[in-house]
Amino acid sequence: LPAKNLVQAAATSGLRVVSVRHSSQAPKVALLGAAGGIGQPLGLLLKQDPLVAHLALYDVVNTPGVAADLSHIDSNAKVTAHTGPKELFAAVENADVIVIPAGVPRKPGMTRDDLFNTNAGIVRDLAAVIAKASPKALIAIITNPVNSTVPIASEVLKKAGVYDPKRVFGVTTLDVVRSQAFVSELKGLDASKTVVPVVGGHAGITIIPLLSQTKPATKFTDDEIAKLTPRIQDAGTEVVNAKAGAGSATLSMALAGARFANALVRGIKGEKNVQCAYVASDAVKGVEYFSTPVELGPNGVEKILGVGKVSAYEQKLIDASVAELNKNIAKGVAFVKGN
Ligand code: NAI
Repeated sequence: LPAKNLVQAAATSGLRVVSVRHSSQAPKVALLGAAGGIGQPLGLLLKQDPLVAHLALYDVVNTPGVAADLSHIDSNAKVTAHTGPKELFAAVENADVIVIPAGVPRKPGMTRDDLFNTNAGIVRDLAAVIAKASPKALIAIITNPVNSTVPIASEVLKKAGVYDPKRVFGVTTLDVVRSQAFVSELKGLDASKTVVPVVGGHAGITIIPLLSQTKPATKFTDDEIAKLTPRIQDAGTEVVNAKAGAGSATLSMALAGARFANALVRGIKGEKNVQCAYVASDAVKGVEYFSTPVELGPNGVEKILGVGKVSAYEQKLIDASVAELNKNIAKGVAFVKGN
């Protein structure tokens, strides 16, 4: 039944309908930053996702071309193009999931925090429109520095009175994807069946791969752990340096973003599943946002599963990440409160 008929039928039968989302029938995914290095391949993957009914592409430039191109692919998702701030409202209106890779990427020698000045304002302004047009959407933020952009979006939603901590995510899936690639390669495992949770945040020492929780159960020597951990933490920089000024990870990030968006949509449709994500969390004492495995469902985060059983080495890394995360979080919060 169309939502309107459902409401009418319920009214006449005396039932109360608390909320009707068109979502679980025909999910709409909005992609903000759709013409960029991540946006284009991520749009390609989302267009091929059989669960996506409507893919709304938003950017400040070049969206019509990307949309025309993607719309010629014979998959069911309807593609629409939205260009410039005046068309942002329509792009995100009624969206079930909003994925945000809008913003500048790193060049060699830069940290993710060096992107703050440009990207903080971009995320703040996008979140302000989302707060009005689509306050119930699940928001997946790729834009760096993720450790700060998630608090920024959250503060904007709080100011607008529509904040729901279960609905705002920092996408850390690429850290998981990288860990699974490196571990399966090192240990000769089937990459498609290797699971490595990554907790903390998404920059440098805040990226904490939990190698001790690798599935299938895998033993690592101290030396392997001492080499793998920093490689995973610096993997983004490996790509930035290899691209030598042409940007940061785009293809692997597109895969990671599509995987995470698909997980959110599956959750909305009632298929609970577990992903690592940087969210408002009480998993670790003394810090307000932390990435751990979370159970996704119809309302976004259904359950925070926490860091689980970790090794002494991993616990040290978790403890050491808290101060850095708090600095990143405070910077994001101050940016919104001071503006
Ligand atoms: P890019 O420069 O190739 O593309 C960014 C796109 O954002 C451009 O098309 C640009 O027009 C658009 N844009 C700029 N301002 C906008 C606004 N106000 N509204 C909408 N769109 C806007 O950059 P790339 O490589 O796609 O990276 C995007 C972001 O993703 C960067 O901040 C990068 O650091 C981050 N990133 C995050 C990762 C993660 O694991 N979370 C991994 C890799 C990159």
